Amino acid sequence: MTEIEQAAELIADAAANGQPIVAFTGAGVSQESGVPTFHGSNGIWQKYDPGQVATFDGFLDDPALCWRFHEELRALCLRSRPNPAHLALAWIERALSTHAPTPVVTQNIDGLHRAAGSTRVLELHGSCHRMRCIECEFSSDEMPTQFGVLPPSCGECGALLRPDVVWFGEQLPSDAMAEAHRLAESAGVMLVIGTSATVQPAASLPVVALRQGAALIEVNPEQTPLTPMVDLSLQGPAGTTLPQLAEAVGTLLNSAPGE
Ligand code: OAD
Repeated sequence: MTEIEQAAELIADAAANGQPIVAFTGAGVSQESGVPTFHGSNGIWQKYDPGQVATFDGFLDDPALCWRFHEELRALCLRSRPNPAHLALAWIERALSTHAPTPVVTQNIDGLHRAAGSTRVLELHGSCHRMRCIECEFSSDEMPTQFGVLPPSCGECGALLRPDVVWFGEQLPSDAMAEAHRLAESAGVMLVIGTSATVQPAASLPVVALRQGAALIEVNPEQTPLTPMVDLSLQGPAGTTLPQLAEAVGTLLNSAPGE
């Protein structure tokens, strides 16, 4: 049996028992859509200082610079389309819908899982398609194609608006993180896709799932700190590996009992 077939069997068995199949994704799942990853030799953090563009202090120091970075990233995300990896996850959700929930817990802010048709997506690091006021309660996902002036200010109170993303040193949205924990604890299988699994607290979720007895399947062309712990390591790009996995799951679902 190939590793893909073994992974499909783990997924089909867990789903048959009604256990959630949780996908935990990072920047690598969008790499084949043209959105660069963060770490590594071609990563975003090679070109930009995260202290300047991804911390609240950096934002306060130079809000226009910080916004220019986020606007460049948002424009790239708006131009990008879901790739076969995003589409395969959405397909798996539909295929297993009568068996088990298949939520996606993502660190990505690009919106590509929803664009691919996944319906249950937890965005742990927020979304580049939303903004909020740093002073009042105002938030909105109606962002102009391009701002006339950067940084934009709040129409309600005049304070600075900021991208509704989680920066280094900030708390993750507590409801999303609590839900992600619940999912990790109840998962029968966690698919860990395209993440270096190094940025906390999100990176602890696979470990939570593992401790609660979930099978971990990693999809990544590189080794990560999680690789020694996983049940199966599918070493390859997500855009090739996940469609193969979806096809193998489909084959198992269509086979008659006992086959
Ligand atoms: P990273 O940039 O840390 O890691 C990307 C991972 O994707 C690496 O392990 C790559 O090997 C893998 N990868 C690259 N191409 C791939 C492909 N085609 N298919 C599958 N995997 C591929 O990105 P994240 O783990 O998402 O946080 O980073 C986590 C957080 O750190 C981000 O959300 C961001 C960043 O700094 C904040 O901005 C707060």
